[in-house]
Amino acid sequence: MDIFGFVLMISCSLVFLYGFSDASDSINQSQPLSENTTLVSKDGSFVLGFFTPGKSTNRYLGIWYNNNPNQTVVWVANRLNPINDSSGLLMVNSSGSIVVLSQSSSTVAWSANSTKEASNPILQLLDSGNLVVRDGNEQNPDIYLWQSFDYPSDTLLPGMKLGWDLRNGLEWRLSSWKSPDDPSPGELTYVIEPHNYAELVMKKGSEKSFRTGLWIGHYFSGIPTLNINPLYSYSFVSNKDEVYYTFHMRNSSVFSRLVLNQTSNLIERYIWAAAGKKWSKYTFVPKDDCDTYNLCGVYGNCIISASPVCQCLEGFKPKSQETWNPDEWSKGCVRKTQLSCQDKVGFKKFVGLKLPDTANFWRDGSMNLEECRVKCLNNCSCTAYSNSNLSDVGSGCAIWYGDLIDIRQIPVGGQDLYIRMLASELVKAARSVTIGHQNNEHQEEDLELPFLDLSTIACATNNFAMYNKLGEGGFGPVYKGVLEDGQEIAVKRLSTSSGQGLNEFKNEVRLIAKLQHRNLVKLLACCIQGEEKMLVYEYMPNRSLDSFIFDQTKSKLLDWSKRFHIICGIARGLQYLHQDSRLRIIHRDLKASNVLLDNEMNPKISDFGLARTFGGDQLEGNTNRVVGTYGYMAPEYAFDGLFSTKSDVFSFGILLLEIISGMRSRGFYHPNHRHNLIRQAWIFWNEGRPLELVDECLGNSCSISEVLRCIHLSLLCVQQQTEDRPSMSSVVVILGSESELPQPKKPGFFLEKDSNEEGHGFSSKDERSSTNEITITLLEAR
Ligand SMILES: *[C@@H]1O[C@H](CO)[C@@H](O)[C@H](O)[C@H]1NC(C)=O
Ligand SMILES: *[C@@H]1O[C@H](CO)[C@@H](O)[C@H](O)[C@H]1NC(C)=O
Ligand SMILES: *[C@@H]1O[C@H](CO)[C@@H](O)[C@H](O)[C@H]1NC(C)=O
Repeated sequence: MDIFGFVLMISCSLVFLYGFSDASDSINQSQPLSENTTLVSKDGSFVLGFFTPGKSTNRYLGIWYNNNPNQTVVWVANRLNPINDSSGLLMVNSSGSIVVLSQSSSTVAWSANSTKEASNPILQLLDSGNLVVRDGNEQNPDIYLWQSFDYPSDTLLPGMKLGWDLRNGLEWRLSSWKSPDDPSPGELTYVIEPHNYAELVMKKGSEKSFRTGLWIGHYFSGIPTLNINPLYSYSFVSNKDEVYYTFHMRNSSVFSRLVLNQTSNLIERYIWAAAGKKWSKYTFVPKDDCDTYNLCGVYGNCIISASPVCQCLEGFKPKSQETWNPDEWSKGCVRKTQLSCQDKVGFKKFVGLKLPDTANFWRDGSMNLEECRVKCLNNCSCTAYSNSNLSDVGSGCAIWYGDLIDIRQIPVGGQDLYIRMLASELVKAARSVTIGHQNNEHQEEDLELPFLDLSTIACATNNFAMYNKLGEGGFGPVYKGVLEDGQEIAVKRLSTSSGQGLNEFKNEVRLIAKLQHRNLVKLLACCIQGEEKMLVYEYMPNRSLDSFIFDQTKSKLLDWSKRFHIICGIARGLQYLHQDSRLRIIHRDLKASNVLLDNEMNPKISDFGLARTFGGDQLEGNTNRVVGTYGYMAPEYAFDGLFSTKSDVFSFGILLLEIISGMRSRGFYHPNHRHNLIRQAWIFWNEGRPLELVDECLGNSCSISEVLRCIHLSLLCVQQQTEDRPSMSSVVVILGSESELPQPKKPGFFLEKDSNEEGHGFSSKDERSSTNEITITLLEAR
């Protein structure tokens, strides 16, 4: 009797001894697994056994889900060597090697060696779907001598890794089945490229066909939304030992698999819907034509909503001068003006992109964006840079060398990319923006901020003549000026007390200059000379909002639709400061006099970013003065110096009430009592007559529903508890929709003096009331 006959005999006797009653999850040396038996993992999730795929007649050893009748196979051992009859046998030998035998042809169909010898090798199918070899004499059950998870087929299960074990050079990659009838490796692979370990790539043969885009801390640049789901979380781990992608189910009793599918040419994620007893496709990539690798060639930008979808990035034109048809796209784009190493350059910011191919790329996790810019600026072959990690807001540096390829516009959640450009082109663009015709939020300039001479500014302002003084802002006087070329400017002459270093100051100002939005006043230049530090802004001919809404005559110029337009603009500008700009600026001094109006009554927030730079000094310089203006300040800021985006939301709420009522937050006057504006709004609201708050001069111009919504919103913004206040992005959504709003809770800064309050929905026994009373007294006394 040869070895095969012997093994067969053993297996027959085992079947006889144990029958099929209790499926086991493991075998040892003396218990081979034959065609007509299977292993079932302890919790019954997975099965290991021999199977026949699709219309094939071949037999393979594989693992499939136990739950569904369609035998969804997740792993195959002998992909390349099928067994053509029912003579397959699986065994583990004394050294821990696993072997699949064809008994009829007396050949080995597949084998795998353990990493080290085991005295008592056991082959076990785990609940995770992982088939492992363990040493039965080893105390720690988590030490595997071999595991199927190290040799994926076309499917990634929770806990499996896709990438590289750098300690031994082992690659974890997915390879598709050739067809549903043939599990041998097909054309498609899903891998992490070894030269940069930056992203996942789907390849067709040796050609890339889809990139996920750079991993930027909590998702891939090209698929920004996939991590936001209640079912599973995924991560990209990179350390000196390993680089891999993996995912985990939030609830381990929910099944999910990622499969590389050659039939559909997609990477698909399925979820087992227990209720329907079927698999549902949950997500997949690539999603659309723009995900096709390099569809638009170098410097092309794929915009799925555009026609044609391939467009050249701004500053570039189609390389082929022919009509740019799909056959020509792959030739890509070239610069409108060629760039040489000697040219003076800057960077143009493109927003909302999938970051380019990382084939020629460098990154550093600890650098910030400014250091990144400098590094890129100093190397002529650097074409672009961006943040490499967005989970830690705006950190890390990614740099691209050579031509940029495979860029697309991402509708929501795309990244900022700064592309090297000729300085003269950037200046042209910046100039057209400052004149105020067209301010495209999506094409912002990232210029070195120009520095102006003190003499230039002195000349422009007639030596800071009194008649040129526009006002006194939070950080010093503001003057009107006219530059030699006729451009009007506003010059903020900063108080000189700041002990800040020069470089620190320049960096801060550069950062402020990068904050660009149509609802923010644009910083044009700055001036540093000796003790003098000045900021030069665009000049706003209509001055500030307070000069309109609190003025009996001028207020008539602002009907409701103009006011609503202004409210929405302020909200968007503030949202940009809080959420969209990489700096997360808290304004800290939002008020009517800090909202300027351009020719067309578009609101532009001013003085942003200054609290961040100069606030600290103000705190020390002026006794007990928090940056900000009483009457607008949130209680937590005024009392405890705690500021957050939600304290800006509070100020926004006050501003909203002022715009609606035409009354100042402080000094609100009512014939019968002296309440502050919030209190009056709250009383009107609770008495069911909120419209009494509305500025009389608005007359019939109001849209009642819009006005009511704005009052409701303002009360939500000024709620006592920060967590109850909406974020500015919610505010923007609320202003643009008609969704239902929650009842506002009690506002901050409440004067509890009147007796007729009971029954208005708040309690004067609230422990905070005394605090509020003290506060108001204190505030009024100032
Ligand atoms: C996980 O899902 C199962 C089945 O749907 C459910 O019974 C269980 O409560 C869930 N567990 C948790 C922690 O949510
Ligand atoms: C692959 O895609 C085809 C066509 O969409 C589908 O019928 C098949 O079930 C998919 N394969 C797997 C393993 O999910
Ligand atoms: C610029 O970057 C390229 C690519 O990394 C590198 O080969 C070259 O040495 C760099 N040049 C300088 C001046 O640093």
